[in-house]
Amino acid sequence: MAEDVSPELDTRAWIRGIPALTGTPPNAGATQNDPAEFPSTPSALFLTWLRQAVDGGVAEPHVCALSTVDNEGIPDSRFLILKDVGDRGFWFSGSARSPKGVELKANPRASLAFYWRESGQQIRVRGVVREGGEPVRARDFVERSVTARAVATASRQSQELADSRDYERAVAGAVDSIEADPAFVSDDWRAWCLEPESVEFWQADPGRRHLRWLYRRSSDGTWTVTTLWP
Ligand SMILES: Cc1cc2nc3c(=O)[nH]c(=O)nc-3n(C[C@H](O)[C@H](O)[C@H](O)COP(=O)(O)O)c2cc1C
Repeated sequence: MAEDVSPELDTRAWIRGIPALTGTPPNAGATQNDPAEFPSTPSALFLTWLRQAVDGGVAEPHVCALSTVDNEGIPDSRFLILKDVGDRGFWFSGSARSPKGVELKANPRASLAFYWRESGQQIRVRGVVREGGEPVRARDFVERSVTARAVATASRQSQELADSRDYERAVAGAVDSIEADPAFVSDDWRAWCLEPESVEFWQADPGRRHLRWLYRRSSDGTWTVTTLWP
């Protein structure tokens, strides 16, 4: 595949030799797999899986990849932290002036993907992102540490940083302002909710007979669940 492979290191063979899907399904085989018995909403099943993941020692199960597209239709992905899940959807936060914030404003269609290595589980959420109201974004902001608030306030996130001293100075100045006014909320901070239209749950099987279920939202707001070929 790669044309510049050196004879000393066969990169393809080396990568192929790295183990994958080494996790153990929760409850070793006792995973409920009849969609007729699934909860009526994907957020309820997500919370069940998340609780099992936390109890089973999955590291950082609330880290997920957010994918957006820019105004030329070119996709981009980055990891972030899930902040909440409820009937409305999946919440995350960041700066409205960041590339993801600008992209979401222009095109709110997005997806989130989770991979839990230890339990061999993947969850994919697709839908439309809407901004949370003032109290939600303010609470999210003030719950962050002083340093995290200062970085969020001072940072021109994802722009070129020509001199790292500019960053140090900007953050130090923002720390001083936030300590003087702990209720301060950056105008740029957003809490976003991905309101799902479909959510797919994927469970690895040690025998490679992986299990997949897809929740799809109907026009009346109710959900149907189907089993997918692996
Ligand atoms: C584990 C992890 C968690 C992160 N959490 C967040 C987050 O909650 N919000 C955020 O804006 N960026 C978060 N980031 C940084 C983003 O991945 C990204 O670098 C940043 O938001 C700029 O993305 P953009 O240029 O696409 O807007 C996190 C990165 C990692 C690796």
